[in-house]
This record gives sequence, structure tokens and C-alpha cells, in this order.
Amino acid sequence: MGVDWRIERVRAMKEEALKGGGLDRIAAQHKLGKKTARERVSELLDPGTFVELDMFATHNCPLFGMERKKILGDGVVTGYGKINGRNVYLFSQDFTVFGGSLGDTFANKICKVMDLAVKNGAPLIGLNDSGGARIQEGVVALGGYAEIFFRNVMASGYIPQISAIMGPCAGGAVYSPAMTDFTVMVKRTSHMFITGPEVIKTVTGEEVTFEDLGGAMTHNSRSGVAHLAAEDESECLDYVRRLLSYIPQNNLEEAPRAETNDPVDRMDEELGSIVPEDPNKPYHIRDIIGRVVDDGEFFELMPYWGQNLMIGFARLNGRSTGIVANNPAYLAGCLDIDSSIKGARFVRFCDAFNIPLVVFEDVPGFMPGTAQEYGGIIRNGAKLLYAFCEATVPKLTVILRKAYGGAYDVMCSKHVRADFNFAWPSAEIAVMGPEGAVNIIFKRDIEKAEDPTAKKAELVAEYREKFASPYIAARRGYIDDVIEPMATRPRLISALEACANKREGRPAKKHGNIPL
Ligand code: HXC
Repeated sequence: MGVDWRIERVRAMKEEALKGGGLDRIAAQHKLGKKTARERVSELLDPGTFVELDMFATHNCPLFGMERKKILGDGVVTGYGKINGRNVYLFSQDFTVFGGSLGDTFANKICKVMDLAVKNGAPLIGLNDSGGARIQEGVVALGGYAEIFFRNVMASGYIPQISAIMGPCAGGAVYSPAMTDFTVMVKRTSHMFITGPEVIKTVTGEEVTFEDLGGAMTHNSRSGVAHLAAEDESECLDYVRRLLSYIPQNNLEEAPRAETNDPVDRMDEELGSIVPEDPNKPYHIRDIIGRVVDDGEFFELMPYWGQNLMIGFARLNGRSTGIVANNPAYLAGCLDIDSSIKGARFVRFCDAFNIPLVVFEDVPGFMPGTAQEYGGIIRNGAKLLYAFCEATVPKLTVILRKAYGGAYDVMCSKHVRADFNFAWPSAEIAVMGPEGAVNIIFKRDIEKAEDPTAKKAELVAEYREKFASPYIAARRGYIDDVIEPMATRPRLISALEACANKREGRPAKKHGNIPL
């Protein structure tokens, strides 16, 4: 007996849907080094786990000849599947269908998976490759975007949301990725901008290429819009999978615990020799982080922007932690506008998703200068301070060297409710560095001295001895212990375990008002 005609029909329709906008357009996509929407989904998910929804959906636009052009699925592939055995919901825009442009049906399909992700407490992943609002659908397309934006906000802090930009992402469409937690871009083939080069030229006369305006490196190194820049689409999808491995499914869960053979009590004699004796000499904080965390694995985010502060995920005894660390290799590790914004958003992500924070501190203060003051370092620096104050996840801080001025308070000090604060013997905790302090409080003594240079050196040494050490802070309990550098890993792991059941509330309110 042959196959039932109804079965044959569904098979034929599905086969047609899989062709998207047609074989020519698929070939054009491949020629650009881009995969199709479905190829991306199958590469991202665990093999055989994808279940597609709304494959038969088509648009209802009766204008501009659209009524004769109906393509099954309407340009976006949606559904659910698994990554490392855990549920995710996702959408993947299909550039081969009307340039991946978004109309009513397209938006409804995305909204449906967003609602499912929220209802089922699973991450949402968006693979973006679209010409933006479908021009033929007019305001209905704009409304569709706004429905997505609203859901992005409702889902924020409830389920993790990750955006991969794998082609164009223009106009107001960029605001959905902007409101998700992490944005990964592909070098050369992805672009994000509010208005394209043509419009810019008309309005301002500026000439700029797509790449300079909105390419992966522009948004990774200049604008701070993106968190990672992938060499190609496969690396981009790998980044998404890797990110998820550090993150829980939703705000009520813990991140998955990983296996590690890295001993809990591993001492590291080398740690003490990385920070130079000379307090003005730089070093790279990655060399410290890598020696402390499990298997030396640190997944850095935003590596090209605000480089004076490093952020990223690592594990301690298999437990996912958010690392926030001043990096003396850039701008002496001081805090400035970009690094404060970078740190603040990351701290808030970790807090929302129960990921403990570990802070490595070596900060000479906030960056001085008119550019910073005019740019609003006051309100921007306040973001990081606000974020650390607000965070109720376990918070651990290790002061390696400098902890000067307001930056001491900001970088997860005991006073903003860190749980355990440690200092290395090399820590210098003071209102400001010895040179600056001596110039102010001993100005007259230096001027009057027979040999001002020698006098100043003597006073600097005295100041350093008296104030620029961890012991005044330790005597007051602002520092819980002065630890030997080699013991950093075991002490952090033990502190993390001591906070395993931390419960700390904040006053009930509608929401705070972080200085945006
Ligand atoms: C309808 C669109 C479209 C759109 C592209 N297409 N964008 N159809 N609405 N927004 C169609 C094209 O007509 C073409 O169809 C096919 O998709 C491929 O587009 P090409 O232009 O041939 O591709 P390419 O040369 O690679 O250029 C890609 C592009 C360009 C850079 C994305 O298409 C473009 O600039 N599109 C418009 C981008 C834009 O300004 N969008 C609106 C942004 S405002 P055929 O049948 O000829 O192959 C916005 C508001 C959101 O989105 C508001 C939210 C609040």
C-alpha cells in the first residue's frame, strides 16, 4: 500500500519549507561565507534535538504584490532544542526569505518562542540576519518589533537571553539584541547600526563603510555594544554554547556545576612573583586569574573594550563565578567610564542569575581628566558602585596591590556588603597613592626642606609604611584576612563554600533607580 496522500502532502510542504527563499538565494548566502538559518540551528544545538514550530506560517500582507509571494515559515525558523543536554528556545532569521525582514507573522513566531522560553524557564537565543522591518508591512512590522522588545524586557533577569548577529541588523531592530544579556558578532559578515552609511551621508555628510560603522570590531572595541567577536559563524555558535555552560536556566536555578581535576587545595608559589615590586609597574591581571581558577580557564567577555577592567566567567571547584578584575596592563587599571559601564552590567547579570562574584582588585583610582569628567564619570562610575551595592549573590574580593580612594569602596569593599575580603601582603589601601598624598599633606615641609627631593622620598616611604598597607583595614575588620598569594585559590574556594546558602535581602520596592 502506498503512502497516504495526506502524509505525502505534509512531507512535500516540509521539503518546500526547508528550501527557504530558494536554492539560488541559499547559494548566494553560502558565497558570502554565511550559513542558512537552519544550518545554524543544527550546528548550535545538540544533534537531532531541534523541534521546529510554525513551519507552515505565512504572512498576510495583501500589498505590493506580496499576496503572490508566500513562503512557508515566512523567513524565521523558530523552535526549541538542547545545548549540552539543557533546553533552549530559539529563533533564526532566514535572510533568503524577503531579506529576513520582519512582518506580522514573523514577529508572532518569535513572540511565541519568547513566551515559551519564559513560561518554561529556559534561555532564549536569537540568531539575527535581517534587513529589518518588512517595508511592505509598514506599521504592523514596527508593532511586531515592539512586541519583541516588550518581551525582551519582561524576560530580562528571568531567563538568560543571548543574541548572535550573523548578518545585517539595522534600524530599531538592534534594540532587541541590545536588551539581551550577551551579543556575539561575526567578523566581516555581521553589521549593526541605527542608520546605514547612505542615510548618514545624506544627513551629516560623513562617509563611512558598513564595516567601520557597524562591524564586529567596531562594536567590540569602540561602542561596547557587543561582548564577543567571532572569526566565523562556527566560532560564534561555539561562543553561545560556551556562554550557556556558565549560566543557569533561569533566575531560580544555579549554574551547572562542572567536573574538575584541579585540586581544591592547589597552592601556587608563582602567584606571589607576578605583581611587580615597583607599584608603578604594570602586569596583566589575566596571569593572576588564570593561576587561580579551575584549569586556568577564563572565558573573557568584552576583551577589546574598557580593557582596564576584565570581566568574564570562570569556575572555582566546578562552580561558575563571575570575575571582575582591574587590569594594570591598561591605564594602570584605573576605573573610567567604559570600564565602569562594562563592570556594572556584568555584575547585574551575575546577580540576577545567582552567579557568585569574585573581584581581583588593583586600582589606583578613577581616571582623572576633562574627557572623563565631561563624559560623566560621576554618573557612570556610580553604575558600578550601584551594581555592587545592589548585588546579593556571594561576593568575594581579593586586593592584590592598590585600592585607592573611591575605587576602594566601589570595587566590592566590605562596606558595600562583600562577604569575604582578602588582601595580599602587598596591598596598599589608602585615600590616595603615597606620592599624591605626601604632596598635599606635607606640601610645606617639602618646600621648606633643604633637599626637597630627599625629604619627599623620606615622607613617601613613611606614608607607605604607615598607610599603604592592608593592616589598618585588617585591624578594623574591613579585610577579613591578609593571605599569602599562593593560598588565593584554596581561600576563595573555601569562602565560596561558606557562602553556598547565602540569603540576603534588600528593602522591598518597585525598583531602584540606577544612574543610567
Ligand atoms: C522588505 C527587504 C528588506 C526590508 C531587504 N529586503 N530588506 N524586503 N523589507 N526591510 C529584501 C530585498 O528587497 C531583496 O529582495 C532581499 O531582501 C535581499 O536584499 P538585498 O538588498 O538584495 O541584499 P543585500 O544587497 O545583501 O543588502 C542587505 C541589506 C539591504 C543591507 C540589509 O537589503 C538593506 O539595506 N535593506 C534595508 C535595511 C533597512 O533600512 N531596514 C529597515 C530598517 S528600520 P529581492 O526579492 O530583490 O531579492 C527598521 C525599523 C525597526 O528595521 C523598527 C523597530 C522599532
